[in-house]
Amino acid sequence: MKQFWFALSGAMLCLASGAIHAQQPAVPLAARADALAKSLAASCPIAAYNDETAFETCTRALHALTLPIEPAIAWGGDQPDKQIKKKGLTHFNSQVFQTMYLPLYAFTGHWSLDEDKRSHAPIIRMEAYFRNALPPGDYPYPFWHSADKWNAYEASNEVRLYLDPKGLIFVATRDAAGSDEHRGTYGHVTTPAFDGQWQWQDANGVTQPHVSLFGARYSQANPNLAALDQSYRSFALRIRDESCLNCHTPANKAEAERLVLLQTPRHAAGEIENVIKAVKTGEMPQDDIGLRKDIPDDHRAAVLKSAVAFRDELARADKWEAGHPR
Ligand code: HEC
Repeated sequence: MKQFWFALSGAMLCLASGAIHAQQPAVPLAARADALAKSLAASCPIAAYNDETAFETCTRALHALTLPIEPAIAWGGDQPDKQIKKKGLTHFNSQVFQTMYLPLYAFTGHWSLDEDKRSHAPIIRMEAYFRNALPPGDYPYPFWHSADKWNAYEASNEVRLYLDPKGLIFVATRDAAGSDEHRGTYGHVTTPAFDGQWQWQDANGVTQPHVSLFGARYSQANPNLAALDQSYRSFALRIRDESCLNCHTPANKAEAERLVLLQTPRHAAGEIENVIKAVKTGEMPQDDIGLRKDIPDDHRAAVLKSAVAFRDELARADKWEAGHPR
């Protein structure tokens, strides 16, 4: 199934690149939706909602799966009454979304087609249920920082995939307008109290959430891990000192419509190119009323230097990983 889907998306890409104007891919949408639903259900089938092995198997499968997805996407609750660009969503590098967020859902293989009412963008509605009873460190950050958010995740029964004219997913949302028919046994989970910390130490002294650390992305044998970790730490200190984390955490204090998360290693890694660009152009940091904030030149240079060093270590670690498939 993986290869089948890959062949389809390959065909789509050839078409798109050969075309002067964006064309509808040759394979009918329903066939693409069905193939995608089948490959998601094969990778991440329904299992008990506390089944950690099922979650890990799904994560590994999604690491290897080629999805028809843009390099960066927006993800969050659907907010059907709002135009796509006005939906308050979180901006993700697709790799981060695909391997940290998507595995939190189990897929049934059921799907239907829909379209966005205003833009007419096609939507594939994938029936899916949220794994709500995993250990806290399996979630990319404590979703229970907001009771509403946790409850909305639990109630959700579909993941909506919005396609752009290239046929690629550019927005993904969760919603509760689907069916609960295949949900199975599901009880509300009372989450731990949120103490304001996006990262914490567990009883064994291990930093959590472990899924947000480099160890969840790179092999322990990767010889660049120590240097990568060091470069991340320097970067994290710099952006904390420049108050970037006042706004760039799930609390979304600045109420950004496309929130950028920088509070963990893997979230920061996914956004590093955007960070370099935004700091270089002076777009960031902002102040509380959304204006560009002047910071001393040497501060800006120090943020940039640490960001570039972090990016370069990421590139080295990725290169090694690509040469040593697990
Ligand atoms: C006072 C709040 C605030 C602070 C402080 C802040 N940002 Fe932002 N940032 C925002 C908002 C709001 C946006 C969304 C931009 C928009 O759409 O207006 C944003 C957008 C971004 C983006 C995405 C830009 C793009 O176009 O892709 C990056 C990257 C970013 N910020 C990095 C940083 C970094 C790095 C710092 C610290 C040097 C920082 N920000 C400080 C509020 C803030």
